[in-house]
Amino acid sequence: MRVLITGAGGQLGADLAAAFSADDHHEVIGTDHATLDVADRDAVLGAITSTRPDAVVHPAAWTAVDACESDPDRAFQVNALGTRHVAEAARRVGAAVCYVSTDYVFDGTKDTPYVEWDEPAPRSVYGASKLAGERELDPGSTIVRTSWVCGFHGANMVKTILRLAAEHDTLSFVDDQRGHPSFTDDLAVAIKRLVVERRPGTFHVTNQGEVSWYEFAREVLAASDQDPDRVRPVATAELQPPRPAPRPANSVLDNAALRLSGLPLLDDFRVPLRRLVRDLLA
Ligand SMILES: NC(=O)c1ccc[n+]([C@@H]2O[C@H](COP(=O)([O-])OP(=O)(O)OC[C@H]3O[C@@H](n4cnc5c(N)ncnc54)[C@H](OP(=O)(O)O)[C@@H]3O)[C@@H](O)[C@H]2O)c1
Repeated sequence: MRVLITGAGGQLGADLAAAFSADDHHEVIGTDHATLDVADRDAVLGAITSTRPDAVVHPAAWTAVDACESDPDRAFQVNALGTRHVAEAARRVGAAVCYVSTDYVFDGTKDTPYVEWDEPAPRSVYGASKLAGERELDPGSTIVRTSWVCGFHGANMVKTILRLAAEHDTLSFVDDQRGHPSFTDDLAVAIKRLVVERRPGTFHVTNQGEVSWYEFAREVLAASDQDPDRVRPVATAELQPPRPAPRPANSVLDNAALRLSGLPLLDDFRVPLRRLVRDLLA
C-alpha cells in the first residue's frame, strides 16, 4: 500500500510513519506541518493527487486544547476544513481515509464508558472542531477516536509528570477526570491494521485500564521507581487558575467496535508506559 500520513512530525504521526515503514509491503509518504499545511486546500489537493496514495492517514490537528478556546477560527480551519480538504483530495484519487479523532467529542457526563454509537456533545472548541472534522468524511472512511495520547515524540503527560517529579517534592493531579491512557506505538499498529484491512466506520482505540489523572501520575512515578505517594489528589474545581477549555469528567472510551469485531484490544496501559519511561530515561 502507498500511504500518505499528515502531521507525521507529531507524536502519533511519527509512530504511524514508523509502523507502516516497518513493513516492506508499504510505501510511506510522510508529511509534516512544514511540508503540507492541511488548511491549504491547493497544497492538499496537489500533494494527494500527485502521489495517488491508496490510503491517507490523517492525525494532523491543532491539538492545543486551551488555545483553541481563544481562536476558534484557527481550530476549525485546521481541524474541520483541513479534514474537508483531505477528504476531497482522497475522493479524487480513490484513496481511503483514516481520520484520528478524540474523546473530547463527548461531554463526559455519562456514567459508563462511551461506545462508538453514543451521541457526541463536545464542550470545548477543540472537541467541536474535531467532531466537525469527523463530519467532513465520506461514509466509507475510518474514524479512530482515542484518548490521553502519549509517545516518545512530542509533548505529553508522561514527560510532564517526569519533569514535575524532578523539580518538586509533591505533585498535584486531578482525581475527578477519568480516561484510558493511550500510547502511540500501540495505537499506530492498531490504526495500521484498520487501514490495511480497509475497515470503515468509527472505532474507539485506546490502551486498556481506566484511571484518573491522579492515579496515572502515581503509575508514572511507580514505573520510574519513584514513590507514588508524592502525588496528591485535587478536584478540577480547585485548579487555579481554571483551565480555559472544560475537560470531560468521563473520557473513558469503550473499544466496543474493536471488541465486537473480534479484533485484538490494546494492552493494559501499564505495559507501554513502562516501555516509554524506560526509553525516556535511557
Ligand atoms: N494528544 C492527545 O491526548 C489526543 C487525545 C485524543 C485524540 N488526539 C488526536 O490524535 C491526533 C494526534 O495527536 P498528537 O497527540 O500526536 O498531536 P501532536 O503531537 O500535536 O501532533 C499533531 C501534528 O499536527 C501538526 N499540525 C498542526 N497544524 C497543522 C496543519 N495546519 N497542517 C499540517 N499539520 C499540522 C502539528 O505540527 P506543529 O506542532 O508543527 O504545528 C503536529 O505535528 C490528533 O488528531 C489529535 O486530535 C490526541
